[in-house]
Amino acid sequence: MSHGPRSGLLAVSTALLAMSRHLEVRDVLKTIVASARELLDAQYAALGVPDDHGGFAQFVVDGVSDAQWKAIGPLPRQHGILAAMLHQAHPERLADVREDPRFEGWPAAHPDMSDFLGLPIRDGDEVIGALFLANKLRPVGDDPAHPPSPKAEGGCGFTEDDEELLGILAQHAAIALTNARLYERSRELTIAEERSRLAHELHDAVSQKLFSLRLTAQAAATLVDRDPDRAKGELQQVAALAAEAADELRAAVVELRPSVLDEDGLVATLRTQIQVLDRAHSARVTFEGRGVRALPAAQEEAMLRVAQEALHNALRHSGAARVDVTLERRGPGAVLRVSDDGGGFEPRATRRAGRHLGLVSMRDRTNGVGGRLAVESAPGKGTTIEMEVPGG
Ligand SMILES: Nc1ncnc2c1ncn2[C@@H]1O[C@H](COP(=O)(O)OP(=O)(O)OP(=O)(O)O)[C@@H](O)[C@H]1O
Ligand SMILES: [Mg+2]
Repeated sequence: MSHGPRSGLLAVSTALLAMSRHLEVRDVLKTIVASARELLDAQYAALGVPDDHGGFAQFVVDGVSDAQWKAIGPLPRQHGILAAMLHQAHPERLADVREDPRFEGWPAAHPDMSDFLGLPIRDGDEVIGALFLANKLRPVGDDPAHPPSPKAEGGCGFTEDDEELLGILAQHAAIALTNARLYERSRELTIAEERSRLAHELHDAVSQKLFSLRLTAQAAATLVDRDPDRAKGELQQVAALAAEAADELRAAVVELRPSVLDEDGLVATLRTQIQVLDRAHSARVTFEGRGVRALPAAQEEAMLRVAQEALHNALRHSGAARVDVTLERRGPGAVLRVSDDGGGFEPRATRRAGRHLGLVSMRDRTNGVGGRLAVESAPGKGTTIEMEVPGG
């Protein structure tokens, strides 16, 4: 590369831009080594990122073919010159790396290297990596702007200017690397959030459908001998519930709202589901919907999910003889109430229990649509869950 002041600046600028264009740590590292090798006319360039156990978490090379890299074997450990770069603050410029007292040899397939320039990549006080260059390619003396003098440089092909340039590169590398790490971390967080959403969704929708399915199948089994016709009806119900569970599962995965809501609306959906529960359980389960208009989709979905979980809890935990569900209009919004006459519980006592997702999920969903949730319960007094949504 020719180093007129302007073309040199252009090359550096291009390299810096390339570094910050990438978002993935691995790509950033690759761009850094490739830029360093090209800008400084080295035959080989490498960048090592230390792990916490005295090895390299990542080691990226440029100038070595894939086959050669494979033949060299496992990642280098942090010792010898490489380690020195991670533990010392200043750059190192050597005429012949093999002559250095810290040199400990290299694997058989390792390319031969002599002149060496290495320096740490620092983020504040922390060394987050080290950059290495080996074997200056440019025959000395053909660059009028930077006449290198092998003797003055101690015989090393890399000049003081090279060292300075690599220092600038390392500073930008530190920024690019830190940004890429932040980006990857935030993406990991997004994935974790997505997992937890899916867990809630599966809990709310699918596990309840499966629960109803089990009960209906049991009902069919007890009926099959004495009332085959009703057993047949229950089995049809089993098939329908299984199909719904499959739909819900798919919906949870692609974050669609339950398709029945789009087709039938909240009131009709609640009514049908409650009829099924009424038939499947010994408790009497009733529904009354008064004057509710269509609500924003997200609010309808949240209401359906909360109703399902409240019903599920009432039927599973309370021992109630009756569960009554009402849905009424309030201003532009609506209020859902699920009341049982069962054993009740102490709402505050369950809040800490990590295994129980139901109540937490009800609260999350309500908050998620700007609504309000009240859980009213006391041992021996039954339970009422009230959810209000603002409408739209
Ligand atoms: N209607 C109710 N009547 C009596 N107890 C209830 C009622 N609703 C909830 N509970 C009590 O509150 C606890 C927490 O309920 P929650 O829905 O959060 O979890 P869960 O139903 O135990 O488990 P999950 O819903 O995660 O499958 C229940 O285990 C139960 O003891
Ligand atoms: Mg529950």
